[in-house]
Amino acid sequence: LKKIAVFISGRGSNLAALIDAINTGALQAEIALVVSHTEKSGGLQLARSAGIPTVITQEGPASALTQNGQILVERLQAAEIDWIVLAGFIKKLPESIIDFYYPRLVNIHPALLPAFGGKGFYGMRIHQSVIERGVFYSGLTIHLVNKDYDAGPIVFQKIVNVEEDDNAERLAERILREEHRYYALVIQRLLYQSFIIRNKRIFFQ
Ligand code: GRF
Repeated sequence: LKKIAVFISGRGSNLAALIDAINTGALQAEIALVVSHTEKSGGLQLARSAGIPTVITQEGPASALTQNGQILVERLQAAEIDWIVLAGFIKKLPESIIDFYYPRLVNIHPALLPAFGGKGFYGMRIHQSVIERGVFYSGLTIHLVNKDYDAGPIVFQKIVNVEEDDNAERLAERILREEHRYYALVIQRLLYQSFIIRNKRIFFQ
C-alpha cells in the first residue's frame, strides 16, 4: 500500500474526501501523515479523529517553513511517504521537499490553470476574479508540484460552467464538489500507473 502525506491549511474537505475514498476502496493508500502549517486548520481535528499522525510546521512567515524544510523531509522519510498530496496548503513548499520528491507531489487548484493561478490566487479570491473577469468556464486543475508556483505539469482538468447569475460562493461550492469527486481518482492513477511528462502535461502509459 502506498503511503501519502496530505498537506492542509484550512477546513480540510478534500482531506475528508480522500479518507472516504480510502474507506470505500476507491483510493488504495494510507494517509500516513497530515501536515498543517497552523494549529488552527479544521482538517487537523479530522485527521486526529481518524487516528492519522499530524505535524504542525512552524507558524509564522514562509521563511520559518523553509528553515524547517529539512526537518520536515526527515519526518516524511521516516514515515516512508511515497507521495506528497497538497489539499489547500497555502504556504510555499520548502524546496528541499520538492527536490527530494519530484515528480511525486500533486496539488489541486480550483480554476483552469494557467488562468487564475499563481501569486495571490488562493481561496475566494480566485472565484471572485473569475466572476469579475466574465469568463464562461472555470473548473479545477490537478497538477504536479514543482518550484514554479501553480505551474507544474498538468495531470487532469475538469470544466465547471460559470452561470449567468453565479457568485463566487456558489461557484466555489460547485467546483469543490468536483474536487471531492476527482482528486482521489486521479491520485489513485498517479500512485499506481506509470506516466510520462511531455511538454507540461502528464500522459499515463
Ligand atoms: C480547495 O478549493 C483546493 O482546490 C484549494 O484549496 C481548497 C481547499 O479546501 N487548493 P479544503 O481545505 O480541502 O476544504
